Amino acid sequence: MSLTRKRVLVTGGAGFLGSHLCERLVASGDDVLCVDNYFTGRKDNVAHLLGNPRFETLRHDVTFPLYVEMDEIYNLACPASPVHYQFDPVQTAKTSVIGAINMLGLAKRTHARVLQASTSEVYGDPVVHPQTEDYRGNVNPLGPRACYDEGKRCAETLFFDYHRQHATRIKVVRIFNTYGPRMHPKDGRVVSNFIVQALQGEDITLFGDGMQTRAFCFVDDLVRGLMRMMETGDDVTGPINLGNPVEMPVRHLAETVLAMTGSRSRIVFRPLPQDDPMQRCPDISKAKQILDWTPAVDLKTGLSRTIAYFDRLLAEHGGRAPTYTAPTPMATAI
Ligand SMILES: NC(=O)c1ccc[n+]([C@@H]2O[C@H](COP(=O)([O-])OP(=O)(O)OC[C@H]3O[C@@H](n4cnc5c(N)ncnc54)[C@H](O)[C@@H]3O)[C@@H](O)[C@H]2O)c1
Repeated sequence: MSLTRKRVLVTGGAGFLGSHLCERLVASGDDVLCVDNYFTGRKDNVAHLLGNPRFETLRHDVTFPLYVEMDEIYNLACPASPVHYQFDPVQTAKTSVIGAINMLGLAKRTHARVLQASTSEVYGDPVVHPQTEDYRGNVNPLGPRACYDEGKRCAETLFFDYHRQHATRIKVVRIFNTYGPRMHPKDGRVVSNFIVQALQGEDITLFGDGMQTRAFCFVDDLVRGLMRMMETGDDVTGPINLGNPVEMPVRHLAETVLAMTGSRSRIVFRPLPQDDPMQRCPDISKAKQILDWTPAVDLKTGLSRTIAYFDRLLAEHGGRAPTYTAPTPMATAI
């Protein structure tokens, strides 16, 4: 049994998506190493796995090389919300680019498969709708979101160059907005923002007129998609979009959260941040065809599980959203 067990590395494993992925991998019998520098991730997210002999954690920054023997690598390390990735934009770009080089180098040496958690942000503010994988995007390379968008685009380039040059076994998925339990309560993403504001009876902040669209995928569906992608043969490199194609105005999401929480919060409007995309919706034909994957969890089911999570979290912290450790400039930033 132990000889056939896969050794799987998850970078960013203590984050929102990473912790759910670690949980599913351990449950499926793999040996999982969670690597994280805890910039936005939290030990609490994986605390329930710590007693399991098939799970271990390592505090490590992916901008430094890592020497371990692995069969599969999921590269998720990178702050994902604007408030966090804009906090230290140089470190964000380094995490994407140098982190990708380090994980690709590791995959090259150990002949491991390596999956990159890319993002719909590589499409920027799209002029093609819904976004298919062959759309090359509309990204402002100079704006405040560029450290993330261009960092992720460069990481994709590196993945395909390692594949062409070294036959590295790569997989690239482009993740669209995903939500669920263990999102950071203060990361400014719409779902967590609206739920926390509604539960605390605070004003719900909508940027612009709230008519910009997004499509929301529940975390369980997304993690299933990541694992399906990893299981594909070496000829399947991606990129493949993973997300829920049910598109809605952000305002509709706010109203749904208000109704589901029974909150009396008011909706207030604020100016749209620079380079905020006006519409975002994945074309998931490739995921359906190649991975036989479609999201199964509808918005109300996913929201009710997420609301229950934040409700518990707030109750544990006297009704206030916990701040956790304030992000500090990375020791590695130069
Ligand atoms: N959640 C989404 O909707 C979404 C959408 C598109 C892409 N993604 C991608 O998925 C991945 C995970 O996103 P998430 O939503 O779980 O975000 P998250 O912030 O919860 O998780 C990122 C994790 O990476 C860790 N990390 C950051 N920099 C690191 C470094 N230099 N070294 C080691 N660890 C580091 C953080 O501490 C955190 O645990 C990210 O790469 C993100 O770009 C997420």
